Amino acid sequence: MFGKITILTAGESHGKALVVIVDGFPAGLEVLPEKIDNELARRQVGYGRGKRMEIERDRVQIISGVRHGKTLGSPIALLIENRDYENWSQIMSVEPADSEEEKREARPRPGHADFAGMLKYGASSARDVLERSSARETAARVAAGALAKGFLGEFGIRICSHVLSIGKVTAQKPNDYSPEIVEAIDKDPVRCPDADASGKMIEEIDFAQGKGDTLGGTFAVAVLGAPPGLGSSFNFEKRLDARLAGALCSIPSVKAVEVGEAIEQSRLPGSKAQDEIRYESIRLIHRLTNMAGGIEGGMTNGEKIFLKAYVKPVPTLTRPLSTVDMESLESAVAFKERADVCVVPAAAVIGEAMVSLVIADAFLDKFAGDTIRDVRVSYKAYLERISRFWKPPRPFVLKPFDGDS
Ligand SMILES: Cc1cc2nc3c(=O)[nH]c(=O)nc-3n(C[C@H](O)[C@H](O)[C@H](O)COP(=O)(O)O)c2cc1C
Repeated sequence: MFGKITILTAGESHGKALVVIVDGFPAGLEVLPEKIDNELARRQVGYGRGKRMEIERDRVQIISGVRHGKTLGSPIALLIENRDYENWSQIMSVEPADSEEEKREARPRPGHADFAGMLKYGASSARDVLERSSARETAARVAAGALAKGFLGEFGIRICSHVLSIGKVTAQKPNDYSPEIVEAIDKDPVRCPDADASGKMIEEIDFAQGKGDTLGGTFAVAVLGAPPGLGSSFNFEKRLDARLAGALCSIPSVKAVEVGEAIEQSRLPGSKAQDEIRYESIRLIHRLTNMAGGIEGGMTNGEKIFLKAYVKPVPTLTRPLSTVDMESLESAVAFKERADVCVVPAAAVIGEAMVSLVIADAFLDKFAGDTIRDVRVSYKAYLERISRFWKPPRPFVLKPFDGDS
C-alpha cells in the first residue's frame, strides 16, 4: 500500500481477532502498548456509536518486531482480539459447517459492499462479504497508525483531527491546535472544537436515532510541524495530496476529500486563490493564508497540512431500505445488522491514523535510515541546509537525543 512502509490487515468483524503486519519502521523507535491502546480507545468513542462499541474494549498485543519497548527494524505484528467473538463463535467458526443450518443474509443492504461482493466472490450470504468489508477492520489501521504517530512525534510532527459538521450542523474551526485545544476536542462527545455546535450535533443525532435514521458529516485532519519537501511533483504516484486523499477515501463511508480550502479556491479568481509568500526574520518564509492546505505541487510547503473528509450517513438503518432477495429475486427489505447512528467522530480518529501512515512513509522516503538515529541525522542535515528559509514552528522541535552535541 505504501512505499517504505507496508501494512497488511487481516480479520473479520466478528472473527477471533484483527491482525496487522507493519513493515518499514527503523530500529530503535519506542513502542508502548498503552500508547496504541489509547489510540484504539479514541476510535471507539463518539456520541452516536452503537452497542458493539460497548462490548469491545480494544487492547493491542504486540506479537513481533519489538523488544524491550523498542522496534527491531523487523516486521511488527499487532493483534486485537474481538471480544464479541464469543457470541459469534459458531457463525464465524473456521470449521466446516452444515450449510442447511446456516442463516443466509440474502437481502443485500443498499450502501454496503453486500451486493457487489456477493457477485464478485460467489457468496450466497452477504455475511461472507460484510464480515471483512465492515469498518471494524479500521481498528487494525489505527493500531498501525499509532506506530506512525509515535515515529513522527520523534521529529516534532503532530497530527490531530476534529469534527467539522454532522448532518446540517456546522462548527467553527479552531484558531490553532494547541495541546489544550486538542485535549478539549478529545473530551467532547462528538470531538467538536465548537461547544455550541457540539450541543446541536448531539441533538441532531438523537433526533435521527429517534426516527430510525443515521447521519454523516465532515471531519478535518491537521498535520503540524511537517517540513517542506515531503512528497514529490516529479513522480505522480508520490504526489502527497493524491496519496493523502486516497488514504482518507479508503476509510469506509468517506466519499470525498478536500485539500485545504479547495472548494472555495475553485470558486475564486486565480489572483485570490493562492497563498502569497512572505519573509520575516522570526518565522522566515511563510504564508499569510493557507488555502492550499500546506501542499503545493504534490509536496509539503512547510505550512500546516489541512484536509477535510466527507462522510456519508451510516447505510444500515433500523428502518431498512428496499432491496431484492438474491434467492427469489422478489422485492424485499434489507436485512438489519446492529449499527451506529453517526460515525464521524470515530472516522476522524481513523483519518489521523491514515494521514500519519502516509506522512511517515513520505518522511522515510526522504530521510531513509535503518535506525531512528540514521533518520534523525539525515533530518537534522536537511533542517540545517534549509535553515535560511524554514524552521519548525515552536513548540514542535526535535526531541533531545543522546547523540546530540
Ligand atoms: C468507524 C466506522 C463505523 C461504521 N459503522 C457502521 C455501522 O455500524 N453500520 C453501517 O451500516 N455502516 C457503518 N460504517 C460505514 C460502512 O462501513 C460503509 O459505509 C460500508 O462499508 C460501505 O462502504 P462505503 O460507504 O465506503 O461505500 C462505519 C464506518 C466507520 C468509519
